[in-house]
Amino acid sequence: MLNNLQQQPADALLALIKLHNNDPRADKIDLGVGVYRTGQGDTPVFGAIKAAEKKLLETQVSKAYLGPEGDMGFVHALMPWVFGKADPSMSGRIEGMQTPGGTGAVRLSLALAKRAGVSRIWMGTPSWPNHAQIVADLGLELKTFAHSTADGTADMAALRTAIGEASAEDAFLLHGCCHNPTGIDYTHADWDEIALLLAKSGVLPLIDLAYQGLGTGMEEDAYGLRAVLAQVPEALIAYSCDKNFGLYRDRVGAVYVMMASADQLPAAISNGHALARAAWSMPPDHGAAAVRLILEDEALTALWIDELDQMRARMSQVRARLAGAGMAGSVNLSPLGAQHGLFSIVPLSGPQILAMREKHGVYMAGSGRINVAGLTSNNIDQFIAAVADVSA
Ligand code: LMR
Repeated sequence: MLNNLQQQPADALLALIKLHNNDPRADKIDLGVGVYRTGQGDTPVFGAIKAAEKKLLETQVSKAYLGPEGDMGFVHALMPWVFGKADPSMSGRIEGMQTPGGTGAVRLSLALAKRAGVSRIWMGTPSWPNHAQIVADLGLELKTFAHSTADGTADMAALRTAIGEASAEDAFLLHGCCHNPTGIDYTHADWDEIALLLAKSGVLPLIDLAYQGLGTGMEEDAYGLRAVLAQVPEALIAYSCDKNFGLYRDRVGAVYVMMASADQLPAAISNGHALARAAWSMPPDHGAAAVRLILEDEALTALWIDELDQMRARMSQVRARLAGAGMAGSVNLSPLGAQHGLFSIVPLSGPQILAMREKHGVYMAGSGRINVAGLTSNNIDQFIAAVADVSA
């Protein structure tokens, strides 16, 4: 039977990691997978995480199972940061559960939507390639619309049309902040309008918030999510701590469900538990426990926020530098200055992206996406010169 399985291509984004590692050139530049890098090109463990891990090592007395919901202390400690300090559970209408990373959160949210009867997912493209893969793997239908326009702003006209065409049995997948791969986020005014449109249409919003704090700040990056939740009766939220706590391989995420009334929550959440049990039984504990220890401790929380602020400041500098370069060959880098998060698209063709890699040792995704945190004062001029060369 197993001979029936056909060879599958490696995931293009993850394959870049290996291609880059195997390149012997000393001046190669990795702008592929989304991990933050310092000005020295490192991805260190957060100081706050190191301190929390030390505390965990000293105080954890058991590793016995917790259940499919994972560490509920972690799930609840995160809620004021996501939903606002005033009323994090929206009067008992929001509850969550831990998942293995942001991917687990997206997967579980979509599986929950499917169980509820959703069969079509609307999504702006380009998007994180794994979104479409998960939608397809769950046997859901994907409907797409343009996320952005050629001038580097969000395509609100396409979004309005899409919401207008969607039916109340559909779900709408939106990036809460730091759009992956374009870096083009909705403005606050856009979000206010989107919230009203979603409420009017009755579609189920699914908001993927994987980069909170990497855009303009923890509070600011939650604006869109909170604007939507204030208007709609129910929603799904897929959350990742993989980037904003630097926990990537520890796989730390959460799903939150908002219902129209608190008494409907237990039934919805019980389906999340059942789906998790059948998929991974329960999430890995370590990273989430470290996040909980940070959020329960004022000094560690301050340290974490400070580290996050430094990351954001560095990415702003890189973006300002790219924007300041203006034209690189035929590519206009100016719009990158106003974009948010780890990613932006450099509009190069397939052959130009290949030339970036083969001739210049610059590794970027096939969509033209770059991880701006891969650029440092040591390599940014080389990168701009390479873009100019391949696009001349
Ligand atoms: C990315 O887009 O680079 C990250 O979200 C990592 C991943 O899992 O794809």
